[in-house]
Amino acid sequence: MQSVLHTVVHPEKEIHDLDGRVVIMLGGAVGIGFEISRAFVLNKARVIMVNHDEHGQYAIDKIKKETGEYSEIEWIPCNLGNLKEAKEILSNLRDREERLDLLICSADMDINQFGEDTDSIDRHFGINWLGQFYTCNLLYPLLRNTSQKADTPAPRIVWGSSQMHYNAPSGVHFASLDEINNSGRSSAELYGRSKLAIILGERVIQPNKDNIYALSVHPGTANAAMKQQCKDSVLDQCLIHLTMSAPWHSRAVRLSELGPAMST
Ligand SMILES: NC(=O)c1ccc[n+]([C@@H]2O[C@H](COP(=O)([O-])OP(=O)(O)OC[C@H]3O[C@@H](n4cnc5c(N)ncnc54)[C@H](OP(=O)(O)O)[C@@H]3O)[C@@H](O)[C@H]2O)c1
Repeated sequence: MQSVLHTVVHPEKEIHDLDGRVVIMLGGAVGIGFEISRAFVLNKARVIMVNHDEHGQYAIDKIKKETGEYSEIEWIPCNLGNLKEAKEILSNLRDREERLDLLICSADMDINQFGEDTDSIDRHFGINWLGQFYTCNLLYPLLRNTSQKADTPAPRIVWGSSQMHYNAPSGVHFASLDEINNSGRSSAELYGRSKLAIILGERVIQPNKDNIYALSVHPGTANAAMKQQCKDSVLDQCLIHLTMSAPWHSRAVRLSELGPAMST
C-alpha cells in the first residue's frame, strides 16, 4: 500500500534545502525519529541526535552510507529519564551551539506496565513528557536567539504525540507526584496521560510570544521499532504487516516541521 501511495504523493520531494540549519532530534536514532534524521541530513541540515542507548552510532553509519562520509550528523547519549544527566548534557550542548532551528521531541517510552525512571517518576510521564519538556526549557535560549536572526524562518518545536491521548484517565490533573506514580493505572492510561501532557504542553510554550512555533503531531500507526517490540500475539503480527513503515510516517512529522508557518 505504501509503495502505491509513494508514487502518488512523492513524500521525498516535500522537503527543501536545509543548508545552514541545525536540528536537534530527541529519539532520532530509531523508528520515525531515525527517518526524520535521515531526511534532514539528505537535505543538508546539521543533525544532532539525542538517544539513550547505543543505537546512535549505528544510525550515523547507516545514514552516512547513503549521504556520504562528510554529512553533518552526530549522536549524543543522554537518558531523558534522568533530569540531572539531561541538565548537564543539554546545557553543554546549548552553550556549544550557535543556533537551533528545529527541536524534534520524538523520544518515546512505549506502552508498558508501570515502572519508574531514574528520578523515581512513572517512566512514561518522565521520559515522554518531563525529560523532553525539560530539554525544551534548557534549549529555549538557543531557539529564541535563532528566532531573532535576520532571514531565518521561525524555529519550531515539534512533539511526537499520539491519538492514544484519549486513553488518559478521566480526572487527570498532573497535580502531584502521588497522582503521577499511581501504579494502579493500566499501560494504556499511563501512555495516554504522557501524550495528553504533550498536547497541553504546546500551550505552555505559546504564551512566551516569541516567534517560535510549538506543535504536536500524531504520525499514524507505523511499523517502527516501538511496534516491533510487541509482536507476541497474532493480532500484533497482523498489525505489523498492515501498518506502514517509519519512512512514510516521518512525512507527517516533517510536514509539521517544514510546512508553511501557521498562526497558533
Ligand atoms: N510508531 C507508531 O505507530 C506511533 C503511533 C502514534 C504515535 N507515535 C509517536 O511517534 C513518536 C516516535 O515513535 P516511534 O514509533 O518512532 O518510537 P520508537 O521507534 O520506539 O523510538 C523511540 C525513540 O526514543 C528513544 N528513547 C527511549 N527512551 C529514551 C530515554 N530514556 N532517553 C532518550 N531517548 C530515549 C529511543 O532511542 P534509544 O532506545 O536509543 O534510547 C528511540 O530513538 C512517539 O512520540 C510516538 O508516540 C508513534
